[in-house]
Amino acid sequence: MRARDPGPSIRTVLTDATARLADAGVSSPVSDAQWLLAHVLQVPRSELLLQGEPAADALTAYDRLLARRCVREPLQHLLGTAAFRHVELDVGPGVFIPRPETELLAGWGIDRLGELRAGGVMHPVVVDLCTGSGAIAAAVADEAAYAQVHAVELSEQALAYAERNLTGTGVDLRAGDVADAFGDLDGTVHVVLANPPYIPVGAYESVAAEVREHDPVMALWSGTDGLDIVRVVEQVAHRLLLPGGVVGCEHADAQGETVPQLFAATHRWTAIHDHRDLADRPRFTTAHRC
Ligand SMILES: C[S@@+](CC[C@H](N)C(=O)[O-])C[C@H]1O[C@@H](n2cnc3c(N)ncnc32)[C@H](O)[C@@H]1O
Repeated sequence: MRARDPGPSIRTVLTDATARLADAGVSSPVSDAQWLLAHVLQVPRSELLLQGEPAADALTAYDRLLARRCVREPLQHLLGTAAFRHVELDVGPGVFIPRPETELLAGWGIDRLGELRAGGVMHPVVVDLCTGSGAIAAAVADEAAYAQVHAVELSEQALAYAERNLTGTGVDLRAGDVADAFGDLDGTVHVVLANPPYIPVGAYESVAAEVREHDPVMALWSGTDGLDIVRVVEQVAHRLLLPGGVVGCEHADAQGETVPQLFAATHRWTAIHDHRDLADRPRFTTAHRC
């Protein structure tokens, strides 16, 4: 009897997959090839090269996922999860995929909560406006378990993910429009965090295919200058915060001057400051309520 031909090694499978993704224009072909194969084989990515030759059914499943990634379906939709700081979130069609840049805003908020606690506020109140998958609220609940965390989201589809992601975290998740959210918390909140939609509707062509075809419309676009919901966030944050409370609001990299100006123009904020991300792009504005 003839011995069975050996299948391709893991290394060969990954090399071929990486070339296929690169040819299709995927911007991170090496890591995407690894993440997808690790997902199919149900092993940690760091242990991929320790595996033997993949079985034929695993190769078929991998091939199908690669084909979907080549037509720019987001990696996180194929995996069904996204990492955000120390939490893993369910994501998929209908909810915005949390971005690494937003981890900085969440970290800024967590640091402010830590300072408040160190100053004797044992259970500071924090609100996540436009929570989407619940990313910021989940990270805050994870890293500042002593805080009282509230979150709001308008999209029913996104809310379904947020409900799952925030189960057991103690976060008060509410359905509704940010404009009139949390009337019961007016003047009692220490920290407001928001990653609202902020892309100008005219910028459609400049937005990557993965984003404009797979992230929800409600998560992206926000009027002609991209600032319609940021203006609402400024008003709602002012209504919710205690005097001296702080707000952090993410924005597009082209809005590093306009968002601080928007806050300054109201004459009701001090210490208005814009923060850059690790790529040195303007990323979020913070301010203290007068
Ligand atoms: C850019 S996504 C950010 C989601 C999440 N905060 C994150 O960082 O991953 C913006 C979110 O705001 C929600 N949204 C848009 N308009 C809203 C409104 N008027 N009230 C409440 N949520 C809104 C969208 O559905 C979307 O989930």
